Amino acid sequence: MGQIKASVDDATLFDMRAARSHEDLWPMLARIYGKHPAYEAFCEALNAAMRAAWDERPGELKRLDMARDLEPDWFQRPDRVGYAFYIDRFAGDLAGIPDKLGYLSDLGVTYVHFMPCLKPRPGDNDGGYSVMDYGAINPDYGTMAEFEAATAACRARGISVCVDLVINHTAKEHEWAKKARAGDPHYRDYYLTFPDETMPRQYEQSLLEVFPDTAPGNFTYYPDMGRFVWTTFNEHQWDLNWANPDVFLEMAQVMLALANRGVEILRLDAVAFIWKRLGTRCQSEPECHMLLQALRAVCRIVAPSVIHLEEAIVGPEEMLGYLGRGEHDGRLGNLAYHNSLMVQIWSALASRDTRLMTHTLGTHFPRALNNATYATYLRCHDDIGWAVTDEDAAAVGVSGPGHRGFLADFYEGQFPGSFARGALFGVNKLTGDKRNSGSCASLAGVEAALESGNQAHLALAIDRILMGHALIASYGGIPLIYMGDEIALLNDWHYRDDPAHSADSRWLHRPMMDWGRVAEARAAPDTVPGRVFHGLRRILQRRAAVDAFHARHPTDILDTGNPALFAFARRAPVGAVVCVFNFTETWQTVSSDWVREHGGGLYDLLSEAWVARHDDPVALPPYARVWLCQAPGGDL
Ligand code: GLC
Repeated sequence: MGQIKASVDDATLFDMRAARSHEDLWPMLARIYGKHPAYEAFCEALNAAMRAAWDERPGELKRLDMARDLEPDWFQRPDRVGYAFYIDRFAGDLAGIPDKLGYLSDLGVTYVHFMPCLKPRPGDNDGGYSVMDYGAINPDYGTMAEFEAATAACRARGISVCVDLVINHTAKEHEWAKKARAGDPHYRDYYLTFPDETMPRQYEQSLLEVFPDTAPGNFTYYPDMGRFVWTTFNEHQWDLNWANPDVFLEMAQVMLALANRGVEILRLDAVAFIWKRLGTRCQSEPECHMLLQALRAVCRIVAPSVIHLEEAIVGPEEMLGYLGRGEHDGRLGNLAYHNSLMVQIWSALASRDTRLMTHTLGTHFPRALNNATYATYLRCHDDIGWAVTDEDAAAVGVSGPGHRGFLADFYEGQFPGSFARGALFGVNKLTGDKRNSGSCASLAGVEAALESGNQAHLALAIDRILMGHALIASYGGIPLIYMGDEIALLNDWHYRDDPAHSADSRWLHRPMMDWGRVAEARAAPDTVPGRVFHGLRRILQRRAAVDAFHARHPTDILDTGNPALFAFARRAPVGAVVCVFNFTETWQTVSSDWVREHGGGLYDLLSEAWVARHDDPVALPPYARVWLCQAPGGDL
């Protein structure tokens, strides 16, 4: 009897993958498009597009697909750390990226987000989120060949590349939009246009505004078309009509083309907005989840090494929907931004009180997720909206509007005694809610301390940055470092001098990378950038060594009874790590018995030292961060 070889040919492998994801894909599409007259043709075209993309998929990436099939938890492991940057601001252009990878690897980074890099419209393009050609790279950054070379260089170092897939809208200069504008009925159906203001008015009754200051309203009238176009974001960003199966087909092809160029993480932008329903906010309608599950399944068939990061900056329960709840469990996004965690960290830093944080994170989030985890972050390229609900605020005895107003004033630097330097980003005149811009270091107090020359304040500011990062590194999920935060880059107030940016205060925290400061940080660990850089690098190294930080292990939010402290336990089968953070500039204690009751011990995995020798309470200095377990070594 001859030995039967396990090898399968390419076509069989595709069929096996298509069969595996069949139930995740087709029932969703049938529910959304089943009644559409072109449904059959659409299904055939989608099948053909998937096969074509599979045929084109490079062998090296198919190999990666197989490796990831064997280790489906690759993105949940504690050695996964992300870093987001603008290509031009970080490396000049795509060709400059390979030279910077040594720096990133040394910091502990294993995932890089190239901020929007597809060809945007000329002029104001919302930081690249107004795309006019999904098949081309921004010419300022280089060519598609250079893009592929950059993803290959990253892959060779074990760094996964993430890019944005802007699916809610295209630039009005996109070829589809231009044809729609010229009256081509096929392409007009790619967008949401209206002959008069009857429908827009009805929709507006329940819609919110994303950029109330700079782009009020959700519709724009074009006299040459004689029509209103749905424009949720800026006037130049035309919302796509996802009720049209052709839009799904086009975007699926765009997605697979990017996957075939070596992208491993697709950041699906503004996903909450893709389905519209009269009488609602048109955010997070059930169809959003169906469509996103279908897109996920398409990717899983053709490019299973690729995962999806959903960008939905919404309230806790609404966000969880993007990580697959109910019928979508395990089948939707693999990652979603943990906006609530980010907001709560800044909120507790300002109020020196963790009760709202403990309540919010302990009430709304499950202990663990299936085939998914969070993208945890302190800062990103966007503003911070103070997403604290009135109900959560009331549960801990504070007023929602009062607390949100306090946070906006505090981080604008206006509240008496505030350590922060930042700016306002928009004021919603209807709700009164204000949002803020500012870099991590400036919001945490470095800028103000440098101005005053107060060394004690400077030390506290640096500790805030490191505590925040120690928290996002241990909470569960992939911590995302935002470019420059590792060297405490300050606000870039020059953005006000650039007419293309002056109306959008988010450019305050989108500075040029300062490579001189990097050299200083690496060579001189006692300087401000050096303290932050070496502190963060150490946090990431220690995170990678602690198996309990694998995202599969549950996160239990704990209440220490002391409102100065925030705590959680990460429960691995072999034991727990109790993580405790001091959100104040004063010394605090937590009892050793309490730590033990929750499964921890007195050994700090972060500093690799015992925190106390006897049964004394554990003393926690200002902004302390400790990862407490029972003993050094072992499997934790
Ligand atoms: C996302 C991006 C943001 C952009 C918006 C519109 O929220 O993070 O920067 O303005 O989408 O594309």
